Amino acid sequence: MSIFSTFLGLCWLLCALVGPALGLNTPHLYQWKFSDETIPTNLPTCVTFGIIVESANITTNATIGVPPYYMISLPIGGTPQIQLIGSDQNNLMWTVAQPVGSQMLLSVVDSQQNPGGIPGREFTVIAGQTTQCVTTPISTPAFTVSANVTTDLETCAPWGLTVVGGTPPFTVTLAQTNVPIVTNVSMDFGTDRFTFINRAHPTGTLIAAVSDL
Ligand SMILES: *[C@@H]1O[C@H](CO)[C@@H](O)[C@H](O)[C@H]1NC(C)=O
Ligand SMILES: *[C@@H]1O[C@H](CO)[C@@H](O)[C@H](O)[C@H]1NC(C)=O
Ligand SMILES: *[C@@H]1O[C@H](CO)[C@@H](O)[C@H](O)[C@H]1NC(C)=O
Ligand SMILES: *[C@@H]1O[C@H](CO)[C@@H](O)[C@H](O)[C@H]1NC(C)=O
Repeated sequence: MSIFSTFLGLCWLLCALVGPALGLNTPHLYQWKFSDETIPTNLPTCVTFGIIVESANITTNATIGVPPYYMISLPIGGTPQIQLIGSDQNNLMWTVAQPVGSQMLLSVVDSQQNPGGIPGREFTVIAGQTTQCVTTPISTPAFTVSANVTTDLETCAPWGLTVVGGTPPFTVTLAQTNVPIVTNVSMDFGTDRFTFINRAHPTGTLIAAVSDL
């Protein structure tokens, strides 16, 4: 499966409006954080960070999702990665494997695709002591997605995504800062274009990725 991503710039989606209509999994079962709360914005390649999953309701601890957990990194203009980070909620391990210079959103999901949230900021990958763990995406045959707006997108403005290459059907994955869910939308079969209507609330970053069959 090839996945490429593109960047929408500064816009915000009201997930509450579209979420239920898209058959999403349940947000707010659990939340995640770095074990070291003073984590920098710059993440060095091939460094492993501890991740903790805790119940969204720390009074009852009733729900922690269904292990194992996965980290999804969604870089602007790059290829998303999904990495297994473990099953022990207090001892999850994630290794930075995106290329140096990647600016990305991070999202943890459980084995049932239940989301654990997306922090309200982008992370930047910097060179660590080694870059040996960095995986280079497959670039042939070409499979890319481009957007017709890459800076600011006004509320209610249409955002046009165009897919080149790949094998349909295509799925568009939308992720944004401070919104707990990652949204998947199927593109109509036989089309290479997808239009997203920007549903309000400015500020924040939205990233779209497209995956094929
Ligand atoms: C946590 O669960 C308890 C018991 O079900 C409930 O009373 C409380 O409102 C919940 N707290 C949050 C923050 O949801
Ligand atoms: C819930 O989990 C937190 C963190 O692990 C812990 O400090 C707390 O005692 C737990 N609460 C209950 C009711 O088990
Ligand atoms: C969204 O689509 C991607 C790519 O096909 C897949 O890996 C992921 O599991 C899907 N997420 C949900 C919540 O369905
Ligand atoms: C972007 O594409 C959408 C969908 O095709 C279109 O409605 C919109 O006018 C385009 N915006 C710009 C700035 O070209």
